[in-house]
Amino acid sequence: SSGKAVERYDFLVLGTGIAGLSYALKVAEYGRVALVTKAGVSEGCTAYAQGGICAVLDAQDSVDAHVRDTLVAGAFLNDRNAVEVVCREGPRYVLELAKFGAEFTRQPSGGLHLTREGGHSARRIVHAADATGAEIERALVAAAAANPNITCFEHHLAVDLLIDEVEGVRYCLGADVLDQHGLSMTRFVAPVTMLATGGAGQLYPNTTNPGVSTGDGIAMAYRAKAAVANMEFVQFHPTSLYAPATPAAAAGNPAAGALAGGRSFLITEAVRGEGGLLYNTGGERFMPRYDERLELAPRDVVARSIQAEMLGRGDSHALLDISHKPPAEVLAHFPNIAAHCARLGLDITKDPIPVVPAQHYLCGGVQTGLLGETHVQGLYACGEVACSGLHGANRLASNSLLEGLVFANRAVGASVAHAEHAMRCAGGALHAAAAAADFSGSAAPRALPPSAAAWVAAKREELNGLMWRGAGIVRRQEDMKRALQSIARLYVETRALAESYGVSTELVELRNLVTVGELVMSSALQRRESRGGHYCQDYPETVPQECRATVINTPVKRRL
Ligand code: SIN
Repeated sequence: SSGKAVERYDFLVLGTGIAGLSYALKVAEYGRVALVTKAGVSEGCTAYAQGGICAVLDAQDSVDAHVRDTLVAGAFLNDRNAVEVVCREGPRYVLELAKFGAEFTRQPSGGLHLTREGGHSARRIVHAADATGAEIERALVAAAAANPNITCFEHHLAVDLLIDEVEGVRYCLGADVLDQHGLSMTRFVAPVTMLATGGAGQLYPNTTNPGVSTGDGIAMAYRAKAAVANMEFVQFHPTSLYAPATPAAAAGNPAAGALAGGRSFLITEAVRGEGGLLYNTGGERFMPRYDERLELAPRDVVARSIQAEMLGRGDSHALLDISHKPPAEVLAHFPNIAAHCARLGLDITKDPIPVVPAQHYLCGGVQTGLLGETHVQGLYACGEVACSGLHGANRLASNSLLEGLVFANRAVGASVAHAEHAMRCAGGALHAAAAAADFSGSAAPRALPPSAAAWVAAKREELNGLMWRGAGIVRRQEDMKRALQSIARLYVETRALAESYGVSTELVELRNLVTVGELVMSSALQRRESRGGHYCQDYPETVPQECRATVINTPVKRRL
């Protein structure tokens, strides 16, 4: 059916990772919350985060040191206020997660065990063995399910934000949402919308992100004219498992070659943090040739070094070895990785792990202030979808769960105040009008016929190739220009198809991916230097005058 329903809530939360869930749990004290997520509630990046969430909890450590490490990893493009706020407030909220029931790995004394990752000058990573995100997600999902003020809509995909403009100020009034199973549209009307939809790993052929990471929130916010910043800073994780080089693949087990749900299996940086060493296939430990910080140099450095080794030697992968450590320790810290590798015929206590870099994280996103606010009234963003200024040009390991958590909490006060104000004043009338108005751009939902679905799949593959060649680990102006032209053509083709086929998950995701791809490519083209995650052969130096954010959609004045 193409039934159109209207649902009214006080808070509309899009996305159910650490950011969306943490926010929903807090604002549920003030009103009714719709929690909208396009797959099953746990199918986001949070649940796949392995290494951990960092917080200054050790007497030897300091907030200043965490601030410094974050700025160094971010190549000083960070917003210093955002960095200070997150480093200072992080520990409180990480400890609060334990109160929500998250069980972290502890020392025999009972204190939290802290591990190490690249770029950190101290042990400060709180973790649940090597499946930290899964444990946090489990605890938050359970708490949300038990909360009577929260209603969760799984398999509901937000298609577009509802925007109205009054006296030059843009308001977000909710979103039009596709029920993917019922194939119907629902208009969710709410004075506050929180975007917590995560990143866009599916832009790239090889990513640690699950299939749901298609940049939906960034594309929607961009269409709503919110400012979007720093999209050229794509982080590649140095070590994702290269399954084709495992014994299972050699034995012809087809499962070994495939990406599970569009995702490469992550080998957490904590493996290097706990002493894992990188070798090329010739048996040489190569990091000393690249950086004095060796295996624990910032991610962009390690990823580029691995890529240079692979290209220089014509290799398909590098090797990560932790077999010199006591097997019991390895198995206790990395049970999830050990089990996954064992299924592919690798014993990580004896064998080196074949690894390649993979897209991992988008540092840019919807530009937000210190309270998670965007440049559209009533629209907030937190987590990977946002560009809060914390990460700068490259994200420090284990700062992402932390960012989502801290800004989810910081957004509570401001957004509750906005909801109350909006319902009392002009916004109240606006919301009534939004509920009554026809669905914007309302193409009806329709299941995509197989031929069109095959077309979409082919276009996604084409986009993946363009992104990897144009905006991969090492970039060139010429490739970026060519890629940008092809992406513009893809956008036109996608729109034409969407006009004849109506609303479907496949087409909505393709349109969003193409939009976000264009934002990444055009931002990358604008930057005339190399910095953090953006490395351009034509401009290999970091240039002090270029130390500023790349912003698309001019920020307008906010009225809080
Ligand atoms: C990892 O476990 O290596 C991922 C940590 C992160 O991306 O912050």
